[in-house]
Amino acid sequence: MKAHILVTGGTGYIGSHTVVVLQTAGFEITIWDNLSNSHVEVIERIAQITGQRPRFQQVDVRSKESMRAALREIPTPDAVIHFAAMKAVEESVRKPLAYYHNNVGGLLALLEVMGSLPFLFSSSCTVYGEPDEVPITESAPFKPPTSPYGATKQISEQLLYDVATAQSMPTIALRYFNPAGAHPSALIGEYPIQEPTNLVPLITQAAAGLRPEIVVFGNDYPTPDGTPIRDYIHIMDLAEAHRAAIERILHGQMKTNFEAYNIGTGRGYSVLEIIRTFETVNHVAVPYRIGSRRPGDITAIWADPSMAQTTLHWQARLGLEDMLRSAWKWQIKMGKE
Ligand code: UD1
Repeated sequence: MKAHILVTGGTGYIGSHTVVVLQTAGFEITIWDNLSNSHVEVIERIAQITGQRPRFQQVDVRSKESMRAALREIPTPDAVIHFAAMKAVEESVRKPLAYYHNNVGGLLALLEVMGSLPFLFSSSCTVYGEPDEVPITESAPFKPPTSPYGATKQISEQLLYDVATAQSMPTIALRYFNPAGAHPSALIGEYPIQEPTNLVPLITQAAAGLRPEIVVFGNDYPTPDGTPIRDYIHIMDLAEAHRAAIERILHGQMKTNFEAYNIGTGRGYSVLEIIRTFETVNHVAVPYRIGSRRPGDITAIWADPSMAQTTLHWQARLGLEDMLRSAWKWQIKMGKE
């Protein structure tokens, strides 16, 4: 029988690509999303790619009543993947209450409703704060968070560790580095309702003439070209990591009730390297200027992904050029619709 996975935030960027990979691998999917930062048309796009329409319920994870009502209408899930959360670092500095309410309050409510159902959590390399050394391994200490967003991810992992341990609830946290790119069909991609704040969608919009330029947030960091370094990971590789993690959970392969994995490529690129590679592979100019540093940004972080390789049998297969080509293909396709 097909395992049934409940995916919160399943119409969002990482959620939608993960649903495609899971459906293709034979899982039955129910999506919960409040559509606060995603579009319901994504469901049809997923169906176009996979040939199956995922079940969709408009649910806000902050509302226990709406979650309980929704659960009464569907078969009991075998596991939950929890993506539904807010993710704009700068916004979190201005609106900390919204971030704690959504990211921590939503998780708490979801856990209360779900009991001890196996759980896969959307975490982030932000939990490490400004690291002492790179590449970073999962055993590196959590440094002070550099934003309320980062704090919500640290608190969420602690909360999950405590609940997983007390309730014997199999739980995996995937600590993503910087997701970029789109499904090769260009039917789904990064499609937020709010203005994007991440580097790659801002680059594609600038290249498409939808914004006059991109501002590079500082070139005085202690890195070779002065701009910050991140580990960019293809969205399809990231989606595959969820399949690997959910299979580990469902096949009873976990050694302890809480495990956390870095999901990155193990390679870092600077902001200027991203812009230049984008221009080269897509034969298009990216207008940019150097601005001042963005509060909360760290200098450099990239993953040591070896634990995911040995334990989840997952590793990134697609490189930066694939990411930036697919991101541009998605932007062009959106522009024509
Ligand atoms: C941050 C978090 C990451 C989180 C993500 C969610 C850290 C270390 N990383 O990623 O965990 O999942 O937000 O959104 O906290 N940049 C520019 N100009 C721009 C936009 C970005 O120069 O207009 C630069 C940034 O300074 C940074 C890089 O591009 O060096 C990537 O930025 P972004 O895409 O926003 O992601 P992070 O801040 O690295």
